[in-house]
Amino acid sequence: MRLILLGAPGAGKGTQAAFLCQKYGIPQISTGDMLRAAVKAGTPLGLAAKKVMDAGALVSDDIIIGLVKERIAQADCAKGFLFDGFPRTIPQAEAMKNAGVKIDCVLEIDVPFDAIVERMSGRRSHPASGRSYHLKFNPPKVDGQDDLTGEPLIQRDDDKEETVQKRLQVYESQTRPLVEYYSNWARADGQNAPVYRKIDGMGSVDEITGRALGALANCP
Ligand code: AP5
Ligand code: ZN
Repeated sequence: MRLILLGAPGAGKGTQAAFLCQKYGIPQISTGDMLRAAVKAGTPLGLAAKKVMDAGALVSDDIIIGLVKERIAQADCAKGFLFDGFPRTIPQAEAMKNAGVKIDCVLEIDVPFDAIVERMSGRRSHPASGRSYHLKFNPPKVDGQDDLTGEPLIQRDDDKEETVQKRLQVYESQTRPLVEYYSNWARADGQNAPVYRKIDGMGSVDEITGRALGALANCP
């Protein structure tokens, strides 16, 4: 299964990716997690990316495309993968198409913007795994600790309200056009066209997982 999770910041891509990757036995490729790992390691890429991410803007297409191409060449991607937060611009999507990277399904998770702001303000993350919790909607078993490792949870630097607003604007202008891009391609039904599915992202985490599995049931 080669799957793209499409959706606004805070739509629940990372939350659902954890279940879907386990179910299909595929690695999660989150460009956001990869960038945050580079920031933490203090690499030149990380230092440059941190400024861009904290401003709620997008890291350059060339850098992201290079990172992803390198990642999907690794052995664990032979059976498939889940893209979370990638592609995020038309040039990123075109780069995959031109490189002949076949995508089986694009799953859009739809959440209204007002719900997103509340989700982001209560989010707590486990940086090493990318697991997300929410103080109210999806709390960890022990306050402030990751369920599986017991390690401390952090609040992401880009979850401040003004940065969230900027990220939502960037989503509208640069990423939402991918909804049309992939749904048109799926409708054109050409060779290698991915199947396009959209689900309602409002409800409990388990309800959304059920919808996602239902929507993906007939995917190749
Ligand atoms: P990235 O890490 O990809 O962030 P994002 O797309 O903005 O998405 P989020 O991780 O914020 O949200 P999510 O959809 O994963 O939601 P989550 O499951 O955590 O990117 C960060 C930055 O890196 C970008 O701004 C950019 O600068 C850069 N970048 C990354 N990729 C790039 C690319 N391809 N090109 C250029 N730049 C790139 O859930 C959110 C919260 O809601 C959590 O608290 C969760 O517990 C809660 N929640 C989840 N589901 C539910 C539910 N059903 N009900 C209630 N609460 C829920
Ligand atoms: Zn995420």
